[in-house]
Amino acid sequence: MEELVKKMNELLATTFALYLKAQNFHWNVRGKDFSQLHDFFGDFYSEIHGAVDTTAEQIRALGVPAIGALGPYKETSRITDELGVPPAAAMIYTLYYDNKLVIDVLTEAHAIATANKEYGLINFIEGRLDTHKKHQWMLAASMDVEPVQESVVEEVAETPEVVESITEEVKTYILNPKQ
Ligand SMILES: [Fe+2]
Repeated sequence: MEELVKKMNELLATTFALYLKAQNFHWNVRGKDFSQLHDFFGDFYSEIHGAVDTTAEQIRALGVPAIGALGPYKETSRITDELGVPPAAAMIYTLYYDNKLVIDVLTEAHAIATANKEYGLINFIEGRLDTHKKHQWMLAASMDVEPVQESVVEEVAETPEVVESITEEVKTYILNPKQ
């Protein structure tokens, strides 16, 4: 049970980090698609914000406190903070990969909840997996190019001039994320 509580708090912190980053992008996005992306990020962060609450309530149902402070969230979250203002294409790109991190944590939580026979929680996690897979599809569909594998990120860092599968805006962002 201890392992499940730890994983669920990791899910809570990671979900909160995704919510905050999406709201940050909703506020700060710029460019010709401003109106569309402002609304798209708005819908996205609102949905994730709702999941922060229901995830915390699932943790309470396990009989333990839910973490609700920025310090522990930062330590526990699998998503790193966004301190700069990336170009619009890089915002979509980073949310796509951060959303995938939430899917990873959900998948790990599912395995532990199954081992613990926590059926209500399993049902909740499966619902969140469905929703995050829909987010993944929408974020991927919003990219100018097909999503690339994580290995491409390393490839860009090593040989930016030869990597063609990524837009210039995103390439610049990967090479200098704190711009
Ligand atoms: Fe707003």
